Amino acid sequence: MEDLSLHILDIVENSVSAGAKNVEIVVSENRPRDLLRIEISDDGKGMNPAAVAHATDPFYTTRTTRKVGLGLALLEEAAKMANGSMDIHSVPGIGTKVIAIFQHSNIDRKPLGDMAATIVMLVAGSPDVEFTYRYEHDGYTFTFQTKEIRAQLRGLEMNSPDTLSFIREYITEHTVSLS
Ligand SMILES: Nc1ncnc2c1ncn2[C@@H]1O[C@H](COP(=O)(O)OP(=O)(O)O)[C@@H](O)[C@H]1O
Ligand SMILES: [Mg+2]
Repeated sequence: MEDLSLHILDIVENSVSAGAKNVEIVVSENRPRDLLRIEISDDGKGMNPAAVAHATDPFYTTRTTRKVGLGLALLEEAAKMANGSMDIHSVPGIGTKVIAIFQHSNIDRKPLGDMAATIVMLVAGSPDVEFTYRYEHDGYTFTFQTKEIRAQLRGLEMNSPDTLSFIREYITEHTVSLS
């Protein structure tokens, strides 16, 4: 995977598979501290400590469609390549939080990529889930919430082409990425 946005797509798909109704994605770029941080929190079914311990093992998966589970293993590898790390906090019945940090200036740190495309794909695939995307860099904060869009749909579907292209443009306009 070339871009962090594709890793994020993959990790959020775990949240959706875990039955999450609310998913929050926070990307913060902090150049003074030379950090890029990704945090993905959900209110899905969670994992017990043994499942968390196995979650980054490429041969551990609870999926039945494919024998290897790589989403978390690949994000951890991407973080480590950029002098960073990944952590998973999970409580059964409450939810899961995945935090990955990267050295911002590291030559091997992947670019953030197209977050608007990632959010659009998530909303298109799971129109009933509430997604929040917060993007912070050096004091600037942008927050996108499907909850706010939903309140203004006036009969349009959340995953209609018009809604999705509005979301794409809205996020693209407000995220001047530094990477
Ligand atoms: N947000 C989450 N909530 C609950 N379980 C999760 C979550 N993320 C990952 N898991 C568990 O960890 C396993 C490994 O995830 P992942 O590395 O993405 O591989 P895959 O999704 O292909 O199985 C999943 O099969 C699932 O059992
Ligand atoms: Mg996965």
